[in-house]
Amino acid sequence: MNIFVINGSPKGAGSNSYRLTAAFLEGMKQTLPYIQTRELFISQTDIKPCRGCFSCWNRTPGQCQIQDDMQQVIQDLLWADITIWSFPLYYFTVPGSLKNLIDRQLPMLLPFMEEKEGQVGNGNHPSRYDMSGKRTVLISTCGFYTAEGNYDGVYSLFDHLCGHRNYTAIFCGQGELFRVPELSALTDGYLSHVKQAGREYGNGGISVETQELLKQLLLPRDIFEACADASWGIEKCGGKTGENGSAPKKESDTLVFTRQMAALYRKESYSGKDIVLEMYYTDVDERYQILLGRDGSRVYTDGSLTATTKIETSVTVWRSIAAGEIRGDEAMMQGLYKVTGDFNLMLKWDSYFGSSRPQAEREEAPPSQKSTNMNIMLIPWIVLWVVPAIHKQWGCLISIGVCALVPLIFYRNKKTVYDVLTNVLVTGISIIMLAGASEKWMLPLSYLSFGVMWLGSCFRKWTPLTAHYSKNSYGGDKAFKNPLFVKTNRILTMLWGILYLCTSVFTWFLMRTPVSSLAGLINSVLPVFMGIFTAWFQKWYPAKVAAGK
Ligand SMILES: Cc1cc2nc3c(=O)[nH]c(=O)nc-3n(C[C@H](O)[C@H](O)[C@H](O)COP(=O)(O)O)c2cc1C
Repeated sequence: MNIFVINGSPKGAGSNSYRLTAAFLEGMKQTLPYIQTRELFISQTDIKPCRGCFSCWNRTPGQCQIQDDMQQVIQDLLWADITIWSFPLYYFTVPGSLKNLIDRQLPMLLPFMEEKEGQVGNGNHPSRYDMSGKRTVLISTCGFYTAEGNYDGVYSLFDHLCGHRNYTAIFCGQGELFRVPELSALTDGYLSHVKQAGREYGNGGISVETQELLKQLLLPRDIFEACADASWGIEKCGGKTGENGSAPKKESDTLVFTRQMAALYRKESYSGKDIVLEMYYTDVDERYQILLGRDGSRVYTDGSLTATTKIETSVTVWRSIAAGEIRGDEAMMQGLYKVTGDFNLMLKWDSYFGSSRPQAEREEAPPSQKSTNMNIMLIPWIVLWVVPAIHKQWGCLISIGVCALVPLIFYRNKKTVYDVLTNVLVTGISIIMLAGASEKWMLPLSYLSFGVMWLGSCFRKWTPLTAHYSKNSYGGDKAFKNPLFVKTNRILTMLWGILYLCTSVFTWFLMRTPVSSLAGLINSVLPVFMGIFTAWFQKWYPAKVAAGK
């Protein structure tokens, strides 16, 4: 299979349109291993405009009078089974250089007027060569927020050339985003769909699902347009010039970068209170404030607002984080940047600026992921500690009954290894007590097993127990990749584990006193305080680390 790629962007291999084309080819090569490719970058070729002399039709049939690279292009077009036309949209059609090349295909036609079945428009010249079976793909990016409604000129041109929609087209809006390294996570997601399209094309045709994915906007329109406007680094002053007729003032790269970051703000995440994020770029000594409000975001350069969250970073670090070269949470743990003030914004960063997440990641996430629930693990233990102390036989039977009911909850909630372990341990201890073992031994033993379960999960290679439950508020399983989240949970899990080891010893003594039947209740007092401490610690500790203290 021979594939000929014609790229019509002046930026050649570094162009947005070629990025998409390369992804498509990569996909095709996976399903069609025996393909040969020839590529032509118009920006590097010498193709002069057609002179309109018609020599190629009368004096030298099939041969153009102009000697340049076009002779080879015609050879390549005849050689190819599939021609991929890759180009940016210029004034709602193909760039002039590409139009030149199209015009110069005249020697490939015969001069006679001949009607063709299914032809578009009135009038047709037959082909000089047998072009049957050859296929055409169009891959293009444009600058507006959508390709929808902007490609009429292109469709019209290629309908006339190839027959009505007798080609495969991938047209992508927001093309300039492919050039922004900070958005690579987002654009890589789109490129993976283009690659998938290449794979499917190689297998016979692009599926409807993939076509739909290719039509999706990279960013919502308002966010894209704000981001695009900010990228020019010039004020919108009537669209013409700055003060006194001078050229518009150019903003610093750091301010442009901050404006683009602000443009990514998702106002749907507004929590009812304005947030002022202050960015202090240490290496360039520039400070900007971003107001995140109900109606959108605004960048302040005069420092007039009171910051709620302050980030102190070098531009290089922040750009690397934005480009996905380093993980934000890891950079924080390494002390590469500091955060002071309200840490909540950092914890919910993804929902405030989530549009920079890879599109693939957004789509792959199951729509309604089941969450875990710590009560599923706690309730059987609480029942075991309280009820058998009141009435041993009934208490043990009730504990076993509760454990038997737990699997029903797994229809709604995701089970953890600790839910399962709890079920086994509580059922086992209840059965042993039913068989006659004394609660004076079994109750302390139950606290001991509970504590060991918590402490055991703190070993380095495992994820600490509390993390399996608190992950629900931090984006699910991907929170496990966040070292700060894991460390916070490891400390908390360890403290809870120690508390319950101590409780087992305390209970052993308590069970030998007249208030032994109240052991379960007495032992609930400390965990209440520990719960309050946990709620405070899980906010305080990450904030302390982020502040570099
Ligand atoms: C001269 C010129 C004309 C353009 N005309 C349009 C246009 O009509 N519609 C549009 O959406 N984008 C237009 N653009 C934007 C480009 O299509 C867009 O930047 C594209 O992603 C560039 O792709 P490339 O990197 O492959 O050259 C134009 C850009 C230039 C330089």
